[in-house]
Amino acid sequence: MASYLDIIKQKAAALGKTIVLCEGEDKRVVEAAAQITKEGIAKIVLIGSEEECKRVSPDTDLTGITLIDPVTSELTAKYANILYEARKDKGMTESLAAEAAKDRTMFGALMLKAGDVDGYVSGACHSTANTLRPGLQVIKTAPGTKLVSSCFIMIAPESGNEYCKDGVFVFADCALNIAPTAEQLADIAAASAETGKAIADIEPKVAMLSFSTKGSGNDAKYYNTVDKVQKAVAYAKENYPDLKLDGEFQFDAALVPKVAALKAPGSDVAGKANVFVFPDINAGNVGYKIAERLGGFVAVGPICQGFAKPLNDLSRGCCTEDIVLTVAVTALQAGKK
Ligand SMILES: CC(C)(COP(=O)(O)OP(=O)(O)OC[C@H]1O[C@@H](n2cnc3c(N)ncnc32)[C@H](O)[C@@H]1OP(=O)(O)O)[C@@H](O)C(=O)NCCC(=O)NCCS
Repeated sequence: MASYLDIIKQKAAALGKTIVLCEGEDKRVVEAAAQITKEGIAKIVLIGSEEECKRVSPDTDLTGITLIDPVTSELTAKYANILYEARKDKGMTESLAAEAAKDRTMFGALMLKAGDVDGYVSGACHSTANTLRPGLQVIKTAPGTKLVSSCFIMIAPESGNEYCKDGVFVFADCALNIAPTAEQLADIAAASAETGKAIADIEPKVAMLSFSTKGSGNDAKYYNTVDKVQKAVAYAKENYPDLKLDGEFQFDAALVPKVAALKAPGSDVAGKANVFVFPDINAGNVGYKIAERLGGFVAVGPICQGFAKPLNDLSRGCCTEDIVLTVAVTALQAGKK
């Protein structure tokens, strides 16, 4: 039987999308570009020169990959103009744009903005901030969306997990928004539910996580952090009435039916959740890594949601296979646009 990861790749291959990988200076990226091309998962534009790719990965076959070097490409002037037009109100000058367009991550984001590729993946050797800022600055949010956020699709180990019946959970926002407000948490919940539906084929049941379940942990005397999650639940119920969402829950109340029956009786999400929204990036980032390293889950992402066009960040600790998967997910997102 094909694994969940294979299904993602097969679905991506059927779409025939073109994805830009911005980091031809990184061996893992060059290897991933070759693997994606060979397996037909997407067409790849790789930013870098042939000489550079051969230097970092001498044995990799570059056949079928489009290589572009922003320093010599005739496209750079066109992209500089797009950047200038997009950012002139923010103080961008033509000469600054001409220089900035040569930056690989910015060049990739501008290719996406211009419609010359369908999706963007970078971050194997650039920080999350450097990877996402060009996207935030020029791709911007989708119409009707205020916030770009991120989620991980968490795939249960092959041996299974007694609480993860569909084999897939969604965790958010573990990578992008550092300290979301109550309204932003609600938006993250709605966006993550959509990603769960679109990419992971799940029927979302969203738990808003806390160290408190339904008012059990009153921290009003200290930091008032539970209050934020409670407000997020109220805001989400009002603004996304079709979303199956509840909280605030401790993780066990959200996940384990017996604990849910004790701590949150009557909730139609407690004990059944498959989308978990963490209260901030500290909790989320620690949480997904615990599931990955101790629980044996495979973490696919961070998958960005809310951009006008698909743009995704890699972890700097990623391996070639992670890059291949992120490209496949990006192609799926492009297929939904
Ligand atoms: C994503 C991140 C880089 C944004 O950084 P930032 O310093 O807020 O970015 P800037 O202030 O330069 O903002 C750039 C633009 O993006 C917009 N923006 C920033 N965050 C946004 C968001 N979540 N959604 C929508 N727009 C956003 C800003 O409004 C700004 O727009 P403008 O320049 O057109 O006015 C930052 O939130 C971050 O570092 N997050 C944590 C990433 C991380 O380290 N993760 C680790 C685990 S993987």
